[in-house]
Amino acid sequence: MKKIYTSVSQIDFNLSDLPKMPAPSRVLMVKPTYFDVEYVINPHMKGHIGGVDKMQALNEWEHLVDGYEELGFDVQIIKGEKGLPDMVFCANQSLPFVDTDDTKKVVMSIMHTDERKREVEAIEKWYRTQDYEVLHLDPAIVNDFEGMGDALWHFKRQLLWGGYGFRSSLKAHEQVSELLDTPVIALELVDDKFYHLDTCLCVLNEKHALIYPDAFTEEGLKMIHKLFENVIEATKYEAEKMFAVNATCPDGRNVFIQQGCTDVNQKLRDAGFSVHEFSTYEFIKSGGSVFCMKMMLW
Ligand code: ARG
Repeated sequence: MKKIYTSVSQIDFNLSDLPKMPAPSRVLMVKPTYFDVEYVINPHMKGHIGGVDKMQALNEWEHLVDGYEELGFDVQIIKGEKGLPDMVFCANQSLPFVDTDDTKKVVMSIMHTDERKREVEAIEKWYRTQDYEVLHLDPAIVNDFEGMGDALWHFKRQLLWGGYGFRSSLKAHEQVSELLDTPVIALELVDDKFYHLDTCLCVLNEKHALIYPDAFTEEGLKMIHKLFENVIEATKYEAEKMFAVNATCPDGRNVFIQQGCTDVNQKLRDAGFSVHEFSTYEFIKSGGSVFCMKMMLW
């Protein structure tokens, strides 16, 4: 089997050939005490510097914590750090997983922008208090890799979906694939409003994905359609303005999504999912929503 796949004709496996991975049972969240828009590193942040309503952000974040707890997840909360306003987007600093020998491991990110680099140490410190083996990419080879912003596990399978072009490089996915001995389907991202893979691809379960098609190349779309039986598409408005695709489906059935994504929500319900809407407007000012405000863990 190949390691990194960049075109559909290279795909030489069936999902059922790949080792299984358990579904996560814990969630990590970072308290938004120091969350704000202090710089512009993606197009959504423009015009929002200093514009976050802190009380509202805390309310929105607390509702999400309650949502995970109601679904039965064990929510781990850590403090944010002063001077790291984006640390709250804790999908980005790492890529945790359960290896085929059942050990818990995590690959630490190398953030693309200077503004976010120090977040990785803070999150690594937390993993070191947990039973995770901490792995690093080689900084001599890899310049940037933004964790689960750009590397998404297929539901319960040892297969990664890797986005590249803005925050993570193809080189990074090659090295992740080597280090983890895991195939990576590499998808080029072509629209800077969808700068992380988690803004345009949401793995719902083994058979279903939610995507925003215009963020991908034709070859990328072919690979997505090859491996998912059902692909739900978000409209431009809901994907771009409401971050509809930055949803999460932690158990393969319940979808947490930004409030008001009427079109996508109907499609999700028609496909049998339970939809739970959350307001994340304060976080959308920074270019993130439900998916990137947490890290799923084992
Ligand atoms: N302001 C943050 C950034 O530009 C937002 C990150 C959102 N995370 C995500 N995975 N989409 O890095």
